[in-house]
Amino acid sequence: MHPLLSLSVFGLLLPAALMRVEDSALDCIPRRSVPSNGNNALLFQEEGVFNYSTMLLREDLDLLVVGAREAVFALDLRNISRKITSVEWKVPLNQVKACGSKGKNEKTECKNYIRIIHEMTDGKMYVCGTNAFDPACKNMSYVDGNLTFTEPAEDGKGKCPFDPSQRHASIMIKNDLYSATSVNFLGSESVLMLSPSVNPQSGPIRTDIKTSWLYDPTFVSMASMPDSEKDGDDDKVYIFFSETALEFDCYSKLGVSRVARVCKGDQGGRRTLQKKWTSFLKARLECPVPGSKLPYIIQDSYRWCDPSLHWKECVFYATFTPQSLTSEISAVCAYRMSDISKQFSEGKYKTQTQVEGLYVKWVTFSGEVPKPRPGTCINKEATNSEIKTTLDLPDKTLQFIQDKPLMDQAIEPMEGKPLLMHKGAAFTQIIVKQVQALDGEKYNVMFIGTDQGKLLKALHNKDMFIIEEVQLFTPPQKIKILKFSNNTGQIYVGSDVGVAQISPANCERSSTCFDCVLSRDPYCGWDKDEGKCVSVSSSQSVLIQDMKGNARLCPDAAPVVETLKISPGETLKLMCPSTSNLAKLIWMRNGTPLPHSPEDGLLILDDSDNNNNTSGKYSCLSVEKSKAGEYKTVVVNYEVSRSLENTRRDITQAQSGGQSRSGLIVAVVVLVVSLVLLLTWKVVKRHINLPCDRTKTKEEPQQTRDLEARDARVPLAAKTPNNHTNAPCQSDGTNPTGVNFSSMHLPVDESTI
Ligand SMILES: *[C@@H]1O[C@H](CO)[C@@H](O)[C@H](O)[C@H]1NC(C)=O
Ligand SMILES: *[C@@H]1O[C@H](CO)[C@@H](O)[C@H](O)[C@H]1NC(C)=O
Ligand SMILES: *[C@@H]1O[C@H](CO)[C@@H](O)[C@H](O)[C@H]1NC(C)=O
Ligand SMILES: *[C@@H]1O[C@H](CO)[C@@H](O)[C@H](O)[C@H]1NC(C)=O
Ligand SMILES: *[C@@H]1O[C@H](CO)[C@@H](O)[C@H](O)[C@H]1NC(C)=O
Ligand SMILES: *[C@@H]1O[C@H](CO)[C@@H](O)[C@H](O)[C@H]1NC(C)=O
Ligand SMILES: *[C@@H]1O[C@H](CO)[C@@H](O)[C@H](O)[C@H]1NC(C)=O
Repeated sequence: MHPLLSLSVFGLLLPAALMRVEDSALDCIPRRSVPSNGNNALLFQEEGVFNYSTMLLREDLDLLVVGAREAVFALDLRNISRKITSVEWKVPLNQVKACGSKGKNEKTECKNYIRIIHEMTDGKMYVCGTNAFDPACKNMSYVDGNLTFTEPAEDGKGKCPFDPSQRHASIMIKNDLYSATSVNFLGSESVLMLSPSVNPQSGPIRTDIKTSWLYDPTFVSMASMPDSEKDGDDDKVYIFFSETALEFDCYSKLGVSRVARVCKGDQGGRRTLQKKWTSFLKARLECPVPGSKLPYIIQDSYRWCDPSLHWKECVFYATFTPQSLTSEISAVCAYRMSDISKQFSEGKYKTQTQVEGLYVKWVTFSGEVPKPRPGTCINKEATNSEIKTTLDLPDKTLQFIQDKPLMDQAIEPMEGKPLLMHKGAAFTQIIVKQVQALDGEKYNVMFIGTDQGKLLKALHNKDMFIIEEVQLFTPPQKIKILKFSNNTGQIYVGSDVGVAQISPANCERSSTCFDCVLSRDPYCGWDKDEGKCVSVSSSQSVLIQDMKGNARLCPDAAPVVETLKISPGETLKLMCPSTSNLAKLIWMRNGTPLPHSPEDGLLILDDSDNNNNTSGKYSCLSVEKSKAGEYKTVVVNYEVSRSLENTRRDITQAQSGGQSRSGLIVAVVVLVVSLVLLLTWKVVKRHINLPCDRTKTKEEPQQTRDLEARDARVPLAAKTPNNHTNAPCQSDGTNPTGVNFSSMHLPVDESTI
């Protein structure tokens, strides 16, 4: 029996154990996995309230203002479990009925989902909600510990989506609201819109209703750049989104990621582009994940700026997920502000051209570009000429931008590739924090949310490294919002079921020096005197820290020694708690490595019939490679001795007891195996019946998924079907691998037609 048992155990776990240690280009495995019961997070949940997906930090008031379904909460910024106050915003019954009569679900969709909360210059807040498919906005103030809305509400169309399941983006700059959302009940028409606070009666500035401007977009985030501060150029607003591509020749709809921008001073044109952006330019964002033929889709972006440097040195970090369901690899790509800015100010444009009078194709525009350059802001240079505002722009420039808002070249990420790739739960939100390590260098630590409720803490320091993954919400919930407060130094996380607060440093999770140093966490260092892993910012002592994971300075740890007795016929399981997913375990008996080193405990069976004497000294070693070397530490020692107190009769009894135990094990294993077989058969059968079931990767048994997730050697290419006749599409020669549809039947340049 025992061989069968060990076979099944080793057969499942050994390959995983071996593969975990190997570095893979496509899957960065988190070094530590923290379950939700050890996450040290504070939680806020209110009975019966869901969808906590909007947040505003009010550091001036020490509040975290959270927008949920039908309610806004003011929480203590230092401890979000403490609710200060809340206010309801429900939809009147007649409006719910009206919404329901239009075919929407009264119990879910016809509620008011708070989607926008911004701070205004007077300290009040501007709040918008979906309001039963009739978006509305109100002012909200916080006075004497109470939140109060100012009535009546104003129209929220173009500011807030109708449909709570649709994504949107917005920012408020000096009371001017820039919003990107759908503007109609069906959710089919989208805008990027400015609702000005000065002269609101003059109306908003918006995007043109043309698929060349926005084509089924999903808005992700917005950021403003204060270009005027140093260069005398106009300030700009950047918007990140994904949309259906027009520039590819595809048989099916293909999604692409974009960045677009508008100038803050834009007032629209006088005749052409009246009340429309004259400065709307967009470009494709490239995040090239090896082996992936379809473009990756942006999910979130975060603007990170070094306050001591010029704004052009700012970097946008963005999360991406695949659009093909066959891949499970998420990525982070980063873009230099200067690269984006240069593309818009100097890059070529794309233009539409009719091919053989049959269909339209997008190619590089190589004709003469009118002056002023289409899409540029009214900068100092322009103001010195006759053009004082966008109203003075010539028709030629405006017509050009109306037809050709897309830049020819895609924006390449820093280093030309993703900073991080991870197989498993899809990335959602990202924030980035710079930390100075003890070596004097500054490191950008990325905090990334996943759709399975985990928060990853990762580092890009020439290689990619995930310090840890922390389960915040169980059962798993998609992380929908992430914020960081300078004042409290805490991270705030929102999901459909609640809000969590967590410290970016959690050094106490390491109990040994090796674990502390090998975690390569710039927040943490080992205090030799205290014998503790502590936060660098809160310690005055000399700490051991090495960002390459050099643990040579660590003192030898004295491992725990446990003494155990084994009776004849008895089975013992020796445990070895490993703190690192990157470590390989080695079991030794009396100084000799055992052939198999299972991760979930070593089984030893005393079998006196075969004179099998299992007594001896067992040690479990953890072997972990870092950039600086390989470190072996003894995690635990066991002294196992044979219990000889039993009489001969007792031994026989114990033995038969042992045999019956073995019998039980046989029964259990047979049962488990048949269950697994049955399950596999069911799954297989189901998939035979449903060949188009695209969700099948989600339904694999957990065990296989885990193994796969760690199986670093499986090349992505092998998992991506290559025989998708309509899949491999690309733009004009940007990707040399694969079939280039455009070059097959078309001239490439407009000027040649
Ligand atoms: C946070 O507030 C809750 C509720 O008032 C309290 O039970 C908890 O102890 C506080 N936690 C911390 C870390 O202050
Ligand atoms: C909100 O307040 C601003 C200025 O404080 C005011 O201009 C605006 O009309 C108010 N909006 C609503 C909906 O009350
Ligand atoms: C704030 O709310 C409390 C309790 O609801 C109430 O007693 C108090 O009068 C309110 N204060 C103001 C300024 O409205
Ligand atoms: C709101 O939260 C509920 C409960 O988790 C969830 O089922 C629903 O999908 C959420 N709705 C939206 C629009 O996010
Ligand atoms: C956070 O702190 C940094 C530097 O300490 C500062 O540059 C930045 O403006 C602050 N951010 C906010 C939102 O206050
Ligand atoms: C004792 O027997 C088990 C199988 O029953 C075997 O796996 C193990 O290696 C044996 N131990 C020794 C020390 O021979
Ligand atoms: C088992 O082996 C150890 C040495 O490995 C020895 O000291 C002990 O006496 C042996 N026990 C029996 C019952 O044979």
